Amino acid sequence: MKAVVLCGGEGTRLRPFTFTQAKHLLPVAGRPVVEHALGAVRGAGIRDVAIVVSPSVEGQFRERLGDGARLGLHLSYVLQPEPKGLAHAVLCAEEYVGDEPFLVYLGDNLLEKGVTGVVDLFRSREPSAAVALCPVEDPRRFGVAVIEGGRLVRLVEKPKDPPSDLAIVGAYVFTPVLFQAAREVKPSFRGELELTDCLQWLVDHGHPVLPSPVDGWWQDVGRPEDLLAANRLLLGQVEPRVEGQADGDSMIEGPVVIERGVQVSGSRVSGPAFIGAGAVVERSTVGPHVAIGPRAVVRRAAIARAIVMDEARIEGVALQDSVIGRRAAVRGGRVAVQTWLGDDGEVRVEP
Ligand code: TTP
Repeated sequence: MKAVVLCGGEGTRLRPFTFTQAKHLLPVAGRPVVEHALGAVRGAGIRDVAIVVSPSVEGQFRERLGDGARLGLHLSYVLQPEPKGLAHAVLCAEEYVGDEPFLVYLGDNLLEKGVTGVVDLFRSREPSAAVALCPVEDPRRFGVAVIEGGRLVRLVEKPKDPPSDLAIVGAYVFTPVLFQAAREVKPSFRGELELTDCLQWLVDHGHPVLPSPVDGWWQDVGRPEDLLAANRLLLGQVEPRVEGQADGDSMIEGPVVIERGVQVSGSRVSGPAFIGAGAVVERSTVGPHVAIGPRAVVRRAAIARAIVMDEARIEGVALQDSVIGRRAAVRGGRVAVQTWLGDDGEVRVEP
């Protein structure tokens, strides 16, 4: 089975970060969002993967992921010229897929237990489609599925009066009949070809669509606060390892990754936390739920619940619930700061 991982779209809700970097390449728990998704695809036993990307960021993906060998995958890149919807993105990969069943996975969706459940269900029952579903507290924000007799019978997009609490997660397995559905459905009111409309088309044309309930957490990365939520959840799964240096005046507690070349001095690092290769942490407290990117510098600072990207500098502030872009700087006068600061941004707080 092949996989198609959707990484097109504009990521407008994640501005300013997506002005300079594709949403799926933003780091969470020390790795790009899409690498976590690709790990799940590999975990389901799939090696051949096409990533659908928009032409403007294709180079960024190729530079980071290459041919996929580092991740144990054979990666191909498929261009979606314009973000015309999920079903349109899948149609772009029709030639790559050929005539076998395939996994479709949204590259910004993270699942605690990965995608093995939906893939295994499809393999054992061989329906026309299998769809991962997750019970949610407020289904009104999601596409919601109605199940009868063990089959999916109806889909409702963002219902005011939800017929169930089962939201459609971004993981599906389809037979190639999906391409026929995607050609027949009309664009929605927002002008996009929707996968939910394709699923409804399959149901209406008598094709069996099976629900695959997910257990464990599901986190979609759409907004900066979602990046922080995903960071917290994924840091909770890291295998602790210390490759860099921490001096005798430092304390490392809880599950912490300290990569090679890191220098921690006079500081306290409380896990779960991640400190990327070559970063410097001096006279600071870091954690919990903090991921610091490679070559970042943290001095006389306290950081909690935050993502600090590559080469950023945090000096003299208490930074909380924040996302700091690459090479950005927050310096200041011992105050608490909460901010979304894009690549190369600068905040200077007067004491
Ligand atoms: P969305 O989060 O719905 O859209 P987006 O990524 O453009 O973000 P925003 O709403 O903030 O502008 O997309 C869900 C997933 O599907 C995401 O991984 C991107 C992917 N996608 C495509 O590959 N092609 C598309 O045309 C669209 C709309 C999304």
